[in-house]
Amino acid sequence: MSYFIGIDSSTTATKALLMADDGSVVGVAASSYGFETPHPLWSEQQPSLWWEATVESTRQLLQQTGISPSEIKGLGLTGQMHGLVLLDADGRTLRPSILWNDQRTGAECDEMRAKLGKQNLIAITGNDALTGFTAPKILWVKNNEPTIYAQVKHILLPKDYVRLQLTGAYAMDKAGGAGTQLFDVAKRDWSAAVLEALDIDPIWLPPTFEGTAVTGVITTEAAAATGLRAGTPVFGGGGDQAAAAVGTGAVEEGIVSLSLGTSGVVFAAAEQAIIEGDGRLHAFCHAVPGKWHLMGVMLSAAGSLRWYRDALAPDVSFDELLTPAENIPAGSEGLLFLPYLTGERTPHPDPLARGAFVGLTVRHGQAHMTRAVLEGVAFGLRDSFELMREAGLASVEQVRITGGGARSSLWRQVLADIFGVGLVTLNADEGAAYGAALLAAVGNGIWPDVPSACRQVIQVTGRTEPQHGETAVYDQRYAIYRALYPALRESFHHLSM
Ligand code: XUL
Repeated sequence: MSYFIGIDSSTTATKALLMADDGSVVGVAASSYGFETPHPLWSEQQPSLWWEATVESTRQLLQQTGISPSEIKGLGLTGQMHGLVLLDADGRTLRPSILWNDQRTGAECDEMRAKLGKQNLIAITGNDALTGFTAPKILWVKNNEPTIYAQVKHILLPKDYVRLQLTGAYAMDKAGGAGTQLFDVAKRDWSAAVLEALDIDPIWLPPTFEGTAVTGVITTEAAAATGLRAGTPVFGGGGDQAAAAVGTGAVEEGIVSLSLGTSGVVFAAAEQAIIEGDGRLHAFCHAVPGKWHLMGVMLSAAGSLRWYRDALAPDVSFDELLTPAENIPAGSEGLLFLPYLTGERTPHPDPLARGAFVGLTVRHGQAHMTRAVLEGVAFGLRDSFELMREAGLASVEQVRITGGGARSSLWRQVLADIFGVGLVTLNADEGAAYGAALLAAVGNGIWPDVPSACRQVIQVTGRTEPQHGETAVYDQRYAIYRALYPALRESFHHLSM
């Protein structure tokens, strides 16, 4: 048997997962770390943390599984997207990494739109400028830390900093490259036009690779540190969202993955570089060679339910909270909830958007409010599906749901009814690290391509079909939901001053 490792450097931990060549997970080890917020809106992390945690989790994984390093035929890398890693000529870090959830670059986003034109920027990169992306962070360092900027010789993403330590090679995957917003998304490579307009030296950027391509091999030093065998190939892998989508089989058009964690991510694979004209959806390269994807991100999805429970029913379990809501009719008798508790990303890229219950009457009790929260999150996620249809995604045949929120059968039914599409749960819920291991296995030739691998290893464990009567009720309510943010936007902005 041969084995593959997926390494996921997330915002809170690095996870190493060992997969056998039949797709089964043999072991998982993780090592956690924190991040810093030295100023309001800032979010930073020292790159050394990712490497130390990679060493620790890999050593632990080898020890706990007892697999010989010579049986490990490859590693796939994944991790948090968009984080800026600046290195000098010798590969030393010049400052802490500025992470995906950092919000300091509002002015630099305006600068990008001014220099490239908003529509042109969207047409090339697939996305409107967003504070979280890498490109505005580079401009921020240029504008605010010129001494550091003057020493920059290499730009990487978090996962690719780990790759550098493992292989000595400066390299990046295509999904991560697209997430920098310096990519020509259709051409799957750096955009000369964007780099020139932003005055960023192309020489600082590494070559980019498809998810299943070899980007280098484990060096003798990295072998000594991690316990892996020197010479083991390291494959491209992908940004965490793309790798997680491989792990759920959202690798062919028509299959959409919905991750219902604190945030909610709607991810659809696409055969072409489909772009939403106003840049309200993210359009990136997929980790699957030659494919793309569209993605909508809701910031407080299951996070809304957690907030609601913690604030209003702290002593009640989720089960106790949700059961009475099953008896409330679809539409919660006229009560709607807006889930913008931490601002929003899709479809309203607005950090000042706010949450709301709208339509409260004396008839409404806790069960109505609970159901309204589930429905409000589902309406907000439906916005991403609608944008995908408008952008030209041919069809959504099946939604594959993962994450903590997927455990509630009531929520799954509400989601299926509001989307009007069947929902399935899966045997695989190991996330991005599993997808990265699958990409390495395909790169090694275990399966001919990523969709074949996914068809073989990912199984459906449950199905929720839409109930047509409910769907009709929800269609009416959805129209009302959609009108609320535009009506309340100005009030939200005044309230957050
Ligand atoms: C994707 C994104 C997050 C980060 C954090 O666009 O911002 O998913 O990758 O994990």
